[in-house]
Amino acid sequence: MSQERKTIGVLTSGGDAPGMNAAIRAVVRAALTKGHRVLGIRRGFAGLLGGDIVEMQLRSVCDILQRGGTALYTARCEEFKTAEGVRRGIEVCKKTGIDGVVVIGGDGSYRGARDMSNGGIPCIGVPGTIDNDIASTEYSIGFDTAVNTVVQNVDRLRDTSQSHDRCSVVEVMGRNAGYIALYAGMACGAISILIPERPYDLERDVISRMKATLKTGKQHFIVVAAEGVGDTKALTQAIQEKTGIEARLTVLGHVQRGGTPTAMERVYASLMGHYAVDLLERDIGNRVVGIQNGKLVDYDINDALKMKKDIDEYMYRAAYDISI
Ligand code: F6P
Repeated sequence: MSQERKTIGVLTSGGDAPGMNAAIRAVVRAALTKGHRVLGIRRGFAGLLGGDIVEMQLRSVCDILQRGGTALYTARCEEFKTAEGVRRGIEVCKKTGIDGVVVIGGDGSYRGARDMSNGGIPCIGVPGTIDNDIASTEYSIGFDTAVNTVVQNVDRLRDTSQSHDRCSVVEVMGRNAGYIALYAGMACGAISILIPERPYDLERDVISRMKATLKTGKQHFIVVAAEGVGDTKALTQAIQEKTGIEARLTVLGHVQRGGTPTAMERVYASLMGHYAVDLLERDIGNRVVGIQNGKLVDYDINDALKMKKDIDEYMYRAAYDISI
């Protein structure tokens, strides 16, 4: 266990996610409690290159646990994808006396953490994206809150769909992944859940299910589609034309990125932020933390970036079986 006093940087990168503030708070409090110094790097790697860096104290992170977004702001940074950008970032760390950095974000942020680690600045990645598409963890910060936001909105849509005997097609975020769609679709009893991981057949997976269910007396429907499946406007029109049921599209968009983080969100984010500091304190870098089987884990960043994960096939089938 290293006894030296370290200066730890912390930043958020990529799309923001509710719960990031809980992770930031945990990093700051854990490091200060252990006698280290903490510098907040604002606006991700772009802020690092611009020297947008602030001293963090215990009180710097009060009253953020319950807030969505990120108190350190975030940004995507094309320059940090270049060797020169990484070199400059490492130079800023060395000039500022930063001994290690906690990088909260998605796979793209992990690549920046890897490159900095390779250049002598130990970094620890903490998974932060509502998409939950990071293969090295079963949970990424933002996911539970985003799913709950979708469920709350779909429950509202069900009220009006029921009143008008309509079908609500709901497009949700997830970039190229379908985790938000699958969990929210199951939680909302969607008649069809369309995700990029499982290409769908409109007739088999949507139309015939609606027609069969109509015969049982069901008069209104919810279809949840991940944004990665493609043109949901055309899908909505096709449903109306082929079933004769009025169909309306709702694209939930960026509301899924906001809101107060759920309790589970705050717990997982706090645990992973604290764990990241533990690793840096032990002079361990070039790792990412995550959750596997409900437990904290950490992996080499290169290994983590090579990992693959898929949706749970049993869950996908069960959602279809119970939603007719
Ligand atoms: O990666 C998180 C995410 O919300 C995706 O689900 C979505 O496709 C993307 O970010 C939107 O990016 P932006 O906020 O840059 O429009």
